[in-house]
Amino acid sequence: MLIAVGDFVGVSKSTACRIVQNISKSIAKLYNKYIYMHQNSVNKFYQIAHFPRVLGAIDGTHIRIQSPTQCDIGTFGNRWLLGDSAYPNRAYLLTPVLNPSNSSEQKYNDAHIATRNLIERTFGVWKRRFPVIFLPLRLSLANVQAVIIATAVLHNICRKYNMQEMPSEVELPASLVTDPSVADTQSQALGLQDIVERNELINGYFSTL
Ligand SMILES: *[C@@H]1O[C@H](CO)[C@@H](O)[C@H](O)[C@H]1NC(C)=O
Ligand SMILES: *[C@@H]1O[C@H](CO)[C@@H](O)[C@H](O)[C@H]1NC(C)=O
Repeated sequence: MLIAVGDFVGVSKSTACRIVQNISKSIAKLYNKYIYMHQNSVNKFYQIAHFPRVLGAIDGTHIRIQSPTQCDIGTFGNRWLLGDSAYPNRAYLLTPVLNPSNSSEQKYNDAHIATRNLIERTFGVWKRRFPVIFLPLRLSLANVQAVIIATAVLHNICRKYNMQEMPSEVELPASLVTDPSVADTQSQALGLQDIVERNELINGYFSTL
């Protein structure tokens, strides 16, 4: 892409790279001015399908990037990574069989889960060591990434020197630290009280439409 763009305007690939980076950052710095919560679109939203009081619609999307790791070109030989079902199964990345239909598949799944569990336990140790990455991070988004990576570096230094796991300075619910799926369930459960708001809307407003 950079070579094509560079050829088009007659500059080298590295110059094109610098220009793309520079211009992109300059445009991105305008985000305060162009990306913000519009607070007066309630009527426009209402006109779509008579949904009242809508501030906005929210969603997330994945943006594909070129893989920054080397696994697909065989750098690590014929070895496998074990990932959960959120990952695609690849020649170098094995995921559980979704509906195991015989004992071979069941044994594969059992061994897979037991082995892969190591990464979950590692996350548990890491988060207990550094509650800052477990509790809601009260930092600017710009600093969050550095703090997360810094705690990972410190965690590996602790491992390198065989430092014992310290008792956490902050009381953390064990289940939440070790099992993110439990954390997800809990945050969903907390949201249940908000069901009341939705029920009132359904029964008090949509029932009258
Ligand atoms: C882009 O390049 C200009 C000119 O060299 C420089 O003044 C500016 O600081 C650069 N912007 C960014 C975001 O790097
Ligand atoms: C187990 O099931 C898989 C998928 O249906 C099949 O490919 C495999 O041959 C089966 N293995 C045995 C031992 O039945």
